[in-house]
Amino acid sequence: MIAVSDWDADSYAAKFSFVPDYGRDVIKLLHGEHLSVLDLGCGNGTLTKVLAGLGHNVIGMDMSRNQLALAKKTCPGIEFIEGDATDFTLDRQFDAVFSNAVLHWIDEDRQPDMMLCVRDCLKKGGQFVFEMGGFKNNQLIHDELERQFAARGLEYKTPFYFPTVGQYSSLLEGTGFAVTYARLFPRPTLLEGENGLEEWIAMFIRKPFAGLDDRLCKDIRRDAAEALKPKLLRGGKWYSDYVRLRMSAVKL
Ligand code: BEZ
Repeated sequence: MIAVSDWDADSYAAKFSFVPDYGRDVIKLLHGEHLSVLDLGCGNGTLTKVLAGLGHNVIGMDMSRNQLALAKKTCPGIEFIEGDATDFTLDRQFDAVFSNAVLHWIDEDRQPDMMLCVRDCLKKGGQFVFEMGGFKNNQLIHDELERQFAARGLEYKTPFYFPTVGQYSSLLEGTGFAVTYARLFPRPTLLEGENGLEEWIAMFIRKPFAGLDDRLCKDIRRDAAEALKPKLLRGGKWYSDYVRLRMSAVKL
């Protein structure tokens, strides 16, 4: 899993609140009342709080200490724990595991480990409900960054895993889940501000830029945004080309 333990939690909460906002729809896939729920990759706890407000008995897990510190401050009474989604065991089993906008951060070869951890912490019949970046998520942005890197003699590799419905269903079924719902859909997403796209890239696409000097990083982001204007700037507003994979599965 990409180590995202150094998030600027305040900036994330201020500028990218659309991430948990969209997650509210994913919660609707959970069936039942007063469920015990693990919020996997809970970040600053925005959705953990929503789950608790719906009457569920929820705990949040994340590997970012900055995000967890904010979660503990803003969600008193909710339990939050530090943990790696690909390597955790808990002393209890849950009715449901919920995850929003997290699973694409896990490298493809670590996905089976994450699914085993999720399976093991669920009761039989328990629900695994999630949304993540799906096949061709942010493809225009990644393609343009690849071009900008190449123009400077650098290699760009997308540091995320964006599966198809078929790929992810196979993984789930191979781990002992039955898929009950699956949908892959485009969701162009407004990025606030005049420099919305550059700021989004700076916040979320870090690994390919690691080790490059600040000036070069800024130039690449600026040139990528300029080149993407015809495709992603509409009516003076930036939209990222998100594609979501929303699924629900039960443990057999
Ligand atoms: C996503 O939620 O799809 C996503 C966010 C940041 C980087 C990559 C993907």
